[in-house]
Amino acid sequence: MTTKAHPEPIPLSVPLLDGNEKAYLKECLDTNWVSSAGPFIEKFEAALAAETGLAHAAATVNGTAALHLALLVAGVEPEDEVLVSDLTFIAPANAVTYVGAEPVFVDADPHSWQMDTDLVAKFLRDVCDRRDGGLVNRATGRRVTAILPVHILGHPVDMDPLMTLADEFGLAVIEDATESLGATNRGKPVGSSGDISCYSFNGNKLLTSGGGGMIASDNADWIEQSRHLSTQARSSSEEYIHDAVGFNYRLTNIQAALGLAQMERIADHIAAKKAIAAAYQKAFAEVPGLSFMPEADGVESTFWLSTVLVDKAAFGMGSRDLQAHLAELSIQTRPLWQPLHLSPPYAGSMFLGSGVADGLYVSALSLPSSCGLTRDQQERVIAEVIAAQQSGPRR
Ligand SMILES: Cc1ncc(COP(=O)(O)O)c(C=O)c1O
Repeated sequence: MTTKAHPEPIPLSVPLLDGNEKAYLKECLDTNWVSSAGPFIEKFEAALAAETGLAHAAATVNGTAALHLALLVAGVEPEDEVLVSDLTFIAPANAVTYVGAEPVFVDADPHSWQMDTDLVAKFLRDVCDRRDGGLVNRATGRRVTAILPVHILGHPVDMDPLMTLADEFGLAVIEDATESLGATNRGKPVGSSGDISCYSFNGNKLLTSGGGGMIASDNADWIEQSRHLSTQARSSSEEYIHDAVGFNYRLTNIQAALGLAQMERIADHIAAKKAIAAAYQKAFAEVPGLSFMPEADGVESTFWLSTVLVDKAAFGMGSRDLQAHLAELSIQTRPLWQPLHLSPPYAGSMFLGSGVADGLYVSALSLPSSCGLTRDQQERVIAEVIAAQQSGPRR
């Protein structure tokens, strides 16, 4: 029984497993296909390719592995520089480090919160030189070879201006679409504008395979290479002969079974996330000091995590105090990621910007957004947020 002292916990974003998950998992057990081969892997890959409109996809053990492989097959080499969003989970920057390259962090655009394309243009035009058929950062002397935009929180990056710059300067574009699968930008699915894109299916994503990832592209060779590298670069199916240093990055059939069942429900999951965002937006429209992460013109976001900005002066408490207050009421929320130029492992990295991401980091809070969030649960969240504001200024 729920008591006032221990109200029912409302988590941030948990899986909704109400499709064919059990049936497909049972099929894995019944057929003994439980490991890194089996029919669900190909089906899951085909489903992701169809969803994104890309020709080829290869499943990976997680989204971070997908990013690592994407950078390798896109030709990013040690000592190269890659432009990476500053406001994101750390995985894409770490993947750049895994290949021995250096991230250059690009601040967020204040309107979209995504990688600021104007800063990219300014850097490429004013700080880089074309040398020996490539592009060199004059400040560091390193080659700049790729851009890695991250579509955050269910919203898409505006890819057209980025692609124009990438074409002009000969850069590869690796899209991190892990948080925004299913969103569209000017009618194009997220992940289908760049050269290669990456996805994650960990437990809090729009779809989950328990843990898992995917890499997708129209470039058949790159996907084939990714698949090869993900299976320890084994070059013979009979002999243990390997033609490179590979990785054990394959997804299991069990995970793919879960992922395929989830993929079949993607439209419902997106509809649920959008309805949650719309209800928060409506309820908070008149609340002083709360504003929503904006949806840009011409895009359709999935609203993976409904996220608000909390203006401390107008709301009466800051985002972290609101987070702590809601936690006491068993309502889980979460802040954005520390901007990567402030992250200790990347303290020495180059940063382009003026601290827009820093401000968003201080003020933003993601609210409960599970696909299975009930109306009652959401009303409780809304009521507690409004009550927190009405109880007056704190701290
Ligand atoms: C933007 C972004 N990139 C990469 C990842 C890494 O995915 P995974 O946890 O599957 O390695 C995540 C999520 O965890 C993410 O949010």
